[in-house]
Amino acid sequence: MKALEVFIRPAQEDDLPALEWGGEYRRYRRLYQRAMREAHQGRRALFVAEVGGEIVGQIFVQFVCNRPELNDKSSTGYIQSFRIKPPFRNFGIGTRLIHQAEDVLRERGFHQAIIAVAQQNRAARRLYERLGYTVFAEDPGQWSYVDDHGQLKYVSEPNYLLRKQL
Ligand SMILES: CC(C)(COP(=O)(O)OP(=O)(O)OC[C@H]1O[C@@H](n2cnc3c(N)ncnc32)[C@H](O)[C@@H]1OP(=O)(O)O)[C@@H](O)C(=O)NCCC(=O)NCCS
Repeated sequence: MKALEVFIRPAQEDDLPALEWGGEYRRYRRLYQRAMREAHQGRRALFVAEVGGEIVGQIFVQFVCNRPELNDKSSTGYIQSFRIKPPFRNFGIGTRLIHQAEDVLRERGFHQAIIAVAQQNRAARRLYERLGYTVFAEDPGQWSYVDDHGQLKYVSEPNYLLRKQL
């Protein structure tokens, strides 16, 4: 099969609508707007993968942890909001985005990356383990966000926390 031509670049303000994936992730509009503001403040890095001008994947990196119990003072960065559109999975794009996230962490002097994966998400966990991540904890995965209608939503998604030394 012909390799896909994939372009990985930092997300820009005007990419925000595309990150809603035609409405599927509209509920996260405010989260993504905040992530973009934090990227401008140097607290995060947001990357997208493009194929033929279409955004087909994304990954966010958080430099400042809002969960001090996870920060062991060895300068840990957090990988989040990682997804590839279904028709573009299994082409290696996710692997490239993880490498991009790890590179930006290394460049900034971080020594460890942490990523959370839902306990039933075997495919993502397999990918992370193949890339050198190991499970070190289970987490109830309870968090909340304000959706695009201004309503507070609660999420409960038990997950595994994986880490990798960079
Ligand atoms: C998890 C996710 C981001 C992975 O993205 P992806 O682009 O499919 O990842 P890759 O293509 O790099 O790797 C996936 C598999 O394809 C294989 N692969 C990589 N390059 C390939 C290629 N050129 N040809 C065929 N297979 C390939 C990998 O070896 C990997 O195999 P594995 O499942 O045995 O580990 C994607 O499946 C996704 O968006 N899932 C839904 C959202 C999600 O679960 N996000 C993670 C939340 S923690």
